[in-house]
Amino acid sequence: MAVDFTTDELDEVASLIARSSCNVALTGAGVSTASGIPDFRGPQGVWRRVDPEKFEISYFYNNPDEVWDLFVKYLLPAFNVKPNPAHYALAEMERLGKLCAVITQNVDRLHQAAGSKNVVELHGALEYAVCTNCGSKYALAEALKWRKSGAPRCPKCGGVIKPDVVFFGEPLPQDALREAFMLAEMAEVFMAIGTSLAVYPANQLPLVAKKRGAKLVIINADETYYDFFADYIIRGKAEEVLPKLLDRLRGMLF
Ligand code: APR
Repeated sequence: MAVDFTTDELDEVASLIARSSCNVALTGAGVSTASGIPDFRGPQGVWRRVDPEKFEISYFYNNPDEVWDLFVKYLLPAFNVKPNPAHYALAEMERLGKLCAVITQNVDRLHQAAGSKNVVELHGALEYAVCTNCGSKYALAEALKWRKSGAPRCPKCGGVIKPDVVFFGEPLPQDALREAFMLAEMAEVFMAIGTSLAVYPANQLPLVAKKRGAKLVIINADETYYDFFADYIIRGKAEEVLPKLLDRLRGMLF
């Protein structure tokens, strides 16, 4: 894919970031495709192979065995993978004092693995599993050992265990949501990176930021639902664009 933005645009974005004290990134599956995890709505996306309705929470409660098998086949590849240059560039921006936080829709924990400290996870993480009956929480790796196929059962009460990530139709973790909207309101530069901005409420964050006066920068391989709202659109791969942006930023800071 050709990188489709000008050097001037990247310089302008770097300069905005250099001059602002509160810059915030919202990330989606596109920052992790270079780590080998497919996205959801891109050309090779998971939702092109699996009906997303199967990840509605009501469908899970009625068909936990089927959904666990789908989860293991399609979503578990995001477990135990390594960060890529996009994650490292964002972690370095934070270390340089030029990124207040990463708000992520991803459940892969790769921002933390790359060294980002202030990460707000909107959709949970592939780290825990929870019993839908008694609420006991387990390490996902442990719960996986309790199944051959279908849904693992709680060793305490026999209830169905659910991966502790947000399914469609489930509320988002309230603390994370509150923090994310607060960050969007504070942001001077708000970057939406590797996300189609298809999913509510995460897709409201760029709008809130922009209405509060932030410059909105969209960095994505394909069009997003809110391109019309952006001040800058950098059409390219996050793992290529972000290291370039970081280089320019460094040049402006030192
Ligand atoms: N660099 C930049 N953008 C990329 C790259 C890349 N290397 N690879 C893919 N993309 C783009 C795709 O073109 C797509 O527009 O990233 C975007 C990813 O969008 P989605 O697949 O919709 O993922 P996301 O926005 O994170 O989805 C939000 O939807 O299904 C749910 O819970 C799931 O958290 C997810 C939410």
